[in-house]
Amino acid sequence: MAPDSSDHLLHLRAAGVSLVLDLSGRRLPRVVHWGADLGPLAPEELAALHLAQRPQPIGFSVDGPVPVAVLPEQSAGWLGTPGLVGNRGGADFSTAFVTEEITGDVTEDVAREGGHLRVTARDDVAGLSLTLTVELTPAGLVRQRATLTNEGTTPFSLDALHLTLPVPTHATELLDFTGHHLRERTPQRAPFSQGLRVRENRTGRTGYDAAYLLVAGTAGFGNRTGEVWGVHTAWSGNHRTVAERTFHAVALLGSGELLLSGEILLRPGESYASPWQFASYAANGLDELSARFHRELRARPEHPSRPRPVVVNTWEAVYFDHDLDRLRRLADAAAAVGAERFVLDDGWFGSRRDDRRGLGDWYVSPEVWPEGLTPLIDHVTGLGMEFGLWVEPEMVNEDSELARAHPDWIMATGDRLPGAARHQQVLDLARPEAFAHILARVDALLTAYPIAYLKWDHNRDLVEAGHQPGGHAGVHDQTLAVYRLMDELRRRHPGLEIESCSSGGGRVDLEILGRTDRVWVSDCIDALERQRIQRWTNALIPLELMGTHVGAGLAHTTDRRHPVDFRAGTALFGHFGIEWDLTRATPKELARLTEWVALYKELRPLLHGGVAVHGDHQDPAFELHGVVAEDASDALFALVATATSAAYPPGPVRLPGLAADAVYHVRPQPPGEVPDGNAHRWGVALPWWTDEGVRLPGRVLETAGLQTPVLFPERLVLLRATRV
Ligand code: DGJ
Repeated sequence: MAPDSSDHLLHLRAAGVSLVLDLSGRRLPRVVHWGADLGPLAPEELAALHLAQRPQPIGFSVDGPVPVAVLPEQSAGWLGTPGLVGNRGGADFSTAFVTEEITGDVTEDVAREGGHLRVTARDDVAGLSLTLTVELTPAGLVRQRATLTNEGTTPFSLDALHLTLPVPTHATELLDFTGHHLRERTPQRAPFSQGLRVRENRTGRTGYDAAYLLVAGTAGFGNRTGEVWGVHTAWSGNHRTVAERTFHAVALLGSGELLLSGEILLRPGESYASPWQFASYAANGLDELSARFHRELRARPEHPSRPRPVVVNTWEAVYFDHDLDRLRRLADAAAAVGAERFVLDDGWFGSRRDDRRGLGDWYVSPEVWPEGLTPLIDHVTGLGMEFGLWVEPEMVNEDSELARAHPDWIMATGDRLPGAARHQQVLDLARPEAFAHILARVDALLTAYPIAYLKWDHNRDLVEAGHQPGGHAGVHDQTLAVYRLMDELRRRHPGLEIESCSSGGGRVDLEILGRTDRVWVSDCIDALERQRIQRWTNALIPLELMGTHVGAGLAHTTDRRHPVDFRAGTALFGHFGIEWDLTRATPKELARLTEWVALYKELRPLLHGGVAVHGDHQDPAFELHGVVAEDASDALFALVATATSAAYPPGPVRLPGLAADAVYHVRPQPPGEVPDGNAHRWGVALPWWTDEGVRLPGRVLETAGLQTPVLFPERLVLLRATRV
């Protein structure tokens, strides 16, 4: 489309979402509406919408309305946070981009499956050009990114390139996330008041404390209620996520990479691309917002399509005690309960007998593996399981052959090394020799051994992460180098699966998931903690991408004890695995675990293809979550008692997400805790319906519900609802 000065409004629609963009006046695109589907609108109605939404001019402010572009500029009258921050030797600090070309789905035709547009714009005075891509995907997500090019003859120093989306002023509440090792993705709420709420992540990885999702919504929004708008920054390095509300009644959600001082200096002709920003709207609460992300991810060609194999990981089973016989026995026990993939964790290489040394020396340790990994791998594959291996390619112990040979490959600035964390430093993978070395080493392992899966770890923050010599800030380059490394290994080894682990769940974002097949949700596999961590990880990513393991009876990270049913019933909702020294489990525990493994295998299509649902349960002692098949023919719910209830019996639980008019047979799903509520001691009986189950329409189950069995705290019961 040739840009002109006439009004040009574009209305994209998909899956219950409308995105109306104002492309007029050769200015950068402005969002007139992002939210509920407005239905088909005739051109004159679109124009009327635009007029209706146009803010009036106010006194003692810029003359005329101030529409805010997806990349806000001061030249358009916007005095909030600018989208582009940078300068050319102190000048050109503010831009006035003029649109040159718009391509993509730019007719007013209603595009039912969404659409995309690409806007190229220039500011000849500042010597910059900009390409903006804005999409409404078939799942109803908005996805956008910007690329800035220095068209001038001198370097341009870039400090920020942020994109924004407006939300209506009736979005008065914010939800985002914080967290730490063993407690990732803790939700926090705040009023969406005037001013700027900034969530910065400077850890050089996605981070435990990342905003993850920044959601604005109507007062009191919940899992199934309220209008919500959320953004996610698809980036595995430093980033900034903001909610900004001005006294002009403008409310924006925005995000972009957080650039360190001097990190991006664009020489003439060079470009910088921002991370993708993903944004989801829902008319009915967080489940719908999450479902858009889940549909989007599932539609990707690279989305794992094979059934997610039952994993046994050696970490909490043996830690650094790599002993072939012990591991063979563990593999035997793993195969006996039905495991399909055996993953050898940290400790198999170099001098790595603990976490103080050897990291970076990617050679199988002759000390502990005198015949290499083949005897173990043969044993594992002989038992019908795939073999997986732990690596941490971005890191190095100072006490390692690699660090001794190439101290200049360590990221640093000034005359010092960064303080060690877990006794390790970060390898500068933007340095071609370091990149080539690590690529060659991991490639050699993948070539020498039949490795189906890499558990790719990343166990420290990037602190003072500069390129030696000179110490120029390097988190941006490092992040891109890691992507390149993964991409190249996957290109060379088609079918290789990778898990994104970062001391637990420190690297969970949609860009790393473009080249990995699951995330390790948390190092905490205490099932009670996991209920919370998994619930909120699932707010962005579907269950099949979440590594969820059954740990030992006594949780290693909390010293809490849970029965196998609670642990396995928690791990069921994810990519199921086991991280427990099964050679020490009792026959009874092994028999029960075998039943859970069988149930997981049976339910994989439902768990990994269905729609995740979360109840807004009235009783804080309970959580209700589940998965409903896309065609609503089948559903599995978990009713989880996280504490004792103040009510006795606890009253009804409502089952969301079923087809309103279909009739379902609902009954407890074995194996699992028989919810007898301590019957033998206190005369508590089961709810009447649990005998034979009940047959009720979905709308009744969603509104009236059924009586909750009395449950001990830290226990769960599974409920299966099948359409009759
Ligand atoms: C941190 C990971 O999160 C753990 O699962 C384990 O792989 C250790 N690193 C190994 O060092």
